[in-house]
Amino acid sequence: MTLLTWNHACTVSVRAMDDQHGILMDTMNELRLALVHGADGEQMSELLGRLIEFMRMHFWSEEQLMEQTGFPGLAEHRAEHEKLLAQVRESAHRAQRNECVGMRPLLGFLRDWYVEHIEGMDQEYGPWLNQRGIS
Ligand SMILES: [Fe+2]
Ligand SMILES: [Fe+2]
Repeated sequence: MTLLTWNHACTVSVRAMDDQHGILMDTMNELRLALVHGADGEQMSELLGRLIEFMRMHFWSEEQLMEQTGFPGLAEHRAEHEKLLAQVRESAHRAQRNECVGMRPLLGFLRDWYVEHIEGMDQEYGPWLNQRGIS
């Protein structure tokens, strides 16, 4: 599994959201490095907890912006966020119970989700917000 790097396709043209996506990426890379360097279950669990907390905050920020501007795809986007968060929470619990066994597939899943969601669904709100003066 390689580290995530920022590329052009990642930008959603809303500065605050790009910054948050960067922090999410850094935290996922931190998790990956911790795993490679043999971090124990407790350390992994703490990092995962931090990632989940930040994801929750980030999703809330995006949803607030979409809500404030009446973005038509909000309900669908929110449902996707909720589904993802539930999946990550559940995988994290499973991985924690097995003391790191299963951490690798979890990180793979997170990376795939990150790229797919940011390069997919998150791209849709960029132009809408830009047209309403949020960039
Ligand atoms: Fe996002
Ligand atoms: Fe999103």
